[in-house]
Amino acid sequence: MPVTLLNTGLVLWRNDEAVLQCLYDQCPHRGAKLSLGAVCQGQLQCPYHGWRFDGEGVCHLVPSMVSFKPGPAQQARAVAVKEHMGLVWVCLDSESAKLTQLPAFTAEQNSRLRKLNAGPYEVTTSAPRIIENFLDIAHFSFVHSGWLGDPNTTHIADYQVEIQTSGFKVKNVRVEQPQASLAMTQNELVAYQYDVTHPYGAVLTKRQAVEGNETPAFEESIAVFIQPVTAESCRVWFRLAVSDLESEPQALIEFQDTIFSQDRPVLESQTPRLLPIHAGTEVHVATDKAAVAYRKYLLQCGVTFGVC
Ligand code: FES
Ligand SMILES: [Fe+2]
Repeated sequence: MPVTLLNTGLVLWRNDEAVLQCLYDQCPHRGAKLSLGAVCQGQLQCPYHGWRFDGEGVCHLVPSMVSFKPGPAQQARAVAVKEHMGLVWVCLDSESAKLTQLPAFTAEQNSRLRKLNAGPYEVTTSAPRIIENFLDIAHFSFVHSGWLGDPNTTHIADYQVEIQTSGFKVKNVRVEQPQASLAMTQNELVAYQYDVTHPYGAVLTKRQAVEGNETPAFEESIAVFIQPVTAESCRVWFRLAVSDLESEPQALIEFQDTIFSQDRPVLESQTPRLLPIHAGTEVHVATDKAAVAYRKYLLQCGVTFGVC
């Protein structure tokens, strides 16, 4: 399977033990796309002259010279790969090819919550524009009117941004929602918290806002994970961990599809598509402080892909 991440072509396949393998999608011999080839006995065979590679990139066969033992010069470039939460994660950094820093999603370990994935959604904009939209509270009453926002309660009460050692949190957001989730079909006051620990990923935890020890009628965590394909196009996934154990999985996914279909036209209309992260390029008001924190975070991380 060919995939593109950060403008870089990769090829994924499974070996005979069904373990995922990943190489740069370029044969070291004449540069052909390995993803046009075939999987033979767990190895990837180039479509052009049939050289065969394992998941480490080691070449095991040059068919034009069957008795030749290929060496490091014939090696393809391997990429660290891991499956987690129903998604495939890779690390393009060949120096420290480790996958130890996946975005945190603590709800994944909460056995009371049901997990499922929504997406992928193909979107023509940068990954940072999508994350910023995910953190944006003031658009609910307009873009998601009658769903996540009530057109009569547009005012955003003060909330807090807390800077962490790695990333930041957005706390104590309160929003009036006509349909906070698939099962919640009447106006509810909902408490939001965001955790941003990755430039292209974020987690929202939302629950019915209740006093004291009362158990909320609903609670869910939604992680957004973005695959930047190019600087201005992405694939978006949501990992859901929900307290709703009754609804059909497909209905829960369709709810996310509906919400995201409301965001998409506005997201794709924004110019520039790259997120302007330097002060003074777009205008902020006080209720945008989550977005301001996100832009500062990107600057601090030294992110250059998807921003301007
Ligand atoms: S280009 Fe791949 S084997 Fe020749
Ligand atoms: Fe939205």
